[in-house]
Amino acid sequence: MSNVGSHTGRKIALWILFVIVHASGGLVIGQGDHRAPIKVIIDADPGIDDAIAILTALQSPELDVLGITTVFGNATLDAGTQNALRIVELGGWNVPVARGAENPLIIPAGDPPDFVHGSDGLGNTNMPPPKGKHIGQSAAEFIVETVRSDSGSVTIVSLGRLTNLALALELDPDLPKYVKEVILMGGAATVAGNVTPVAEANIWGDPHAADIVFTAGWPVTMVGLDVTTQVRLSNDILLRIKQRNPTIGTFIHDISQFYLAFYESLGVSGGMFVHDPSAVAFAIDPTIFDVEPFAVRVAIEGIAIGQTIAASELHSNRPGPWHDIPATGVALGVDAEGLLGLLEETLSRKREPEEGPDQP
Ligand code: BDR
Ligand code: CA
Repeated sequence: MSNVGSHTGRKIALWILFVIVHASGGLVIGQGDHRAPIKVIIDADPGIDDAIAILTALQSPELDVLGITTVFGNATLDAGTQNALRIVELGGWNVPVARGAENPLIIPAGDPPDFVHGSDGLGNTNMPPPKGKHIGQSAAEFIVETVRSDSGSVTIVSLGRLTNLALALELDPDLPKYVKEVILMGGAATVAGNVTPVAEANIWGDPHAADIVFTAGWPVTMVGLDVTTQVRLSNDILLRIKQRNPTIGTFIHDISQFYLAFYESLGVSGGMFVHDPSAVAFAIDPTIFDVEPFAVRVAIEGIAIGQTIAASELHSNRPGPWHDIPATGVALGVDAEGLLGLLEETLSRKREPEEGPDQP
């Protein structure tokens, strides 16, 4: 077989794997089949929309959240880690939180965007400190150990900079063989960026890490601005959730007021864009999205730094930076009503708190 033929064969094989993974995901939901929930690690920088996304995952019967790992981004790493602990305590979930990277791999860290998420990361609600603590392991160590101990079953849902995933790959270069899939909120393939004209915040915040993740050879789905800016979560929906499920609903409603005001100041009407909750929704029900395969690379310098450049086969079959790059599923279409319905239903579910950890 020629070189070009074998490269294309590998890319097609990864794409077939991707399609099989999601075809089975669709059947679970479509047929009401009571299969075991999908095991997920959520890597996040909470963050208002991260908080809503994490709560969606924790509330969802389709997902089993094995742990939450934190990364710098929307808030400082300390504030984001505290927020992850607060979120877990809100519903009494027994889910470990592992603290992750404080800085990008190579570029200097910027200041947290307090004008988007507030200086506490939760819309300046200044909530009391959590009672619990993060575990001793780093995020990267937790990811490697958890994935390795349940080979082929664990999905990583990334809602922030991809630094922890890149560090996990550095710790364990064979990790892609053991991960079920990576679903990430980030990037913009066909629309403008939200930090620069071409770059989305999570990719721009650590472009080197993002390029490592897109080229690592594991099944990746990019849920980026192409779809997240097509959907608006309104205060009316938040008020309905608050009425049906007061504890979680009040928290989400309160932290979101700052975020809603930010979007209003940008001239976005009808609510806030649905960034991070879209990635969790993809894990729950991928049939809500239309996904196309592309070879994705990230610009790591120059004025386009942080741009996700998505090549179709026309370009990836030619020699160059996209050649021999595994296919990423890029979400380009979304059923907005379906997504909002899923979020409202999931967040409105009342549930009994889990039992705490076993006492010695
Ligand atoms: C992403 O950036 C952060 O502000 C959000 O939490 C989301 O992960 C959107 O560009
Ligand atoms: Ca985020």
